[in-house]
Parts: sequence; C-alpha cells; structure tokens
Amino acid sequence: MDWGIKNRLARIIKPQTGRTVMLAVDHGYFLGPTKKLENVSRTIEPLMNYADALMLTRGILRTSVDPETSVPVVLRVSGGSSIIGEDLSNEVITTSIEDAIRLNVAAIALSIFVGSEYESQTLESLAELVNMGQEFGIPVLAVTAVGKELSKRDSRFLSLACRIAAEFGASFVKTYYCEDFEKVVESCPVPIVIAGGPKLETELDAFEMAHDAINKGAVGVDMGRNIWQNNNPVAMLKAVRAVVHKNASPAEALEIFNKNKK
Ligand code: 5RP
Repeated sequence: MDWGIKNRLARIIKPQTGRTVMLAVDHGYFLGPTKKLENVSRTIEPLMNYADALMLTRGILRTSVDPETSVPVVLRVSGGSSIIGEDLSNEVITTSIEDAIRLNVAAIALSIFVGSEYESQTLESLAELVNMGQEFGIPVLAVTAVGKELSKRDSRFLSLACRIAAEFGASFVKTYYCEDFEKVVESCPVPIVIAGGPKLETELDAFEMAHDAINKGAVGVDMGRNIWQNNNPVAMLKAVRAVVHKNASPAEALEIFNKNKK
C-alpha cells in the first residue's frame, strides 16, 4: 500500500488501538434535513472532540465545519438520488478528486448498490474512484448501501457486497451489523466499520451492536443517528468510544453513558 494511503488511513483508524469511531453526518445528501441534523454545525460542535473522523459531504464541510479542526474528514463523493425519487441506487460520483485534495480529506467515500438496477453504474464509479485515489494516495471507503430495502442486511448479501468492494480496491468498507457478522469479516480482506442504522430503541441496544461488531472483527463504527438523535449525544459518543477503543462491555458503556448524561 502506498505511503500516502497508509498515512491517511492511520489518521482515521487509530494505530494505538487499530480502531476508529467515525461520526457520520452525511445523511442530508439524500435525506435532506434529517431529524436532529437540521443544523449540522450545531449538532457536531459538542461532538468534535470525541470523533476520530467525520463523514460528510463537501457542501456541509465548507459551510459547517471549522477549517482549523484536526479531525480527519471522510468525504462522501457519491449521490444523485433522493428519498422521494424513484430509485436511491441511481448514484454517480459527485465530487472531483481535485476538490477532495483541496479539502485536505483523509479518505473519500462512495456507496455501492449491489443487486440493484444501478449495480454496474455504482461499481464502475467505485473502480473509477479507486483509480483516482491510487493516483493521489487517498483511501476509498466503499459503503455497501441497501437503499430502502433494509431487509437486505443479512450476512449472505453483506458478505457479497463487502467482498466485491474489496476486490475493486476499496481501502476499507462500511456495512451493517448482522447475524453471523463474523462471516462478513472473514471473507473481506480489508477493514470493516459498521453503520449504526436507524435509531435503536435503547442506548444499550446500540452499545450491544457496537460491542458485538467489534468482537466479531469490525475495526470500528461510522455511526450517526444513534449518536446525534439521542438526547445525550456526547454521553453516547463517549460510551461508544469506550466500547470501540477500550473493549468496554455494553453494561460498562451504559454506566459511562449514565455518568455523562445531563
Ligand atoms: C448513508 C450513510 C450514513 O453515513 C450511514 O448510514 C451511517 O449513519 P447511521 O449510523 O445513521 O446509519 O452512509 O448512506
């Protein structure tokens, strides 16, 4: 792996633990003003000190993030469909590599929609992005998107999608936690982070998911709604950090959450 790619990845996946807690705030690229993310700068301001990386689009980066931040940026560079449109999978590359470099990002991220009508288009985009990333030393995060079909989140489908992403040259992959998650990890030769998905019923549910994913081989989380849709987002992020970086149990994480909540 090229030095630049290794160096940028090490800014995201912390060498001290080999793990990462990414904060995902890119939802607006297809959902618009998502609940509790209406004003992104207000949402992320108290969370910045506890995130290992921030995942977002260039529009939100330029308008809502202090350029003096030291938090590495994972830039979402795919899009093209909205939640009210016909097909969420109809995505293309939305941001040039030159602009990503201008923004000094640590990685670029794109969704692939395996099994969808636009499967080939999104996989071709991944190939193109990896080629560009290789040229300039920028790692690519492939997101194994499922669109509105949340039922697709099983180990058979996610193993297929993650493996294809790795075969195409993604440096790391973001997917969902699922039953038999170890099978997804086992057949994917690059690091995996999990998305949180829609807000779970309890904090403990989120800690259990993060804990089980780490135990089964994920290198971390790229979590959004389960952090910032909680009434105590800082407490939530601190507790998830303990699970990811310190192997805290779900019960210990809940204790940390309760201690830190307002
Ligand atoms: C959307 C994304 C989101 O960043 C991802 O789903 C993580 O956020 P959440 O934890 O809210 O699911 O990539 O395609």
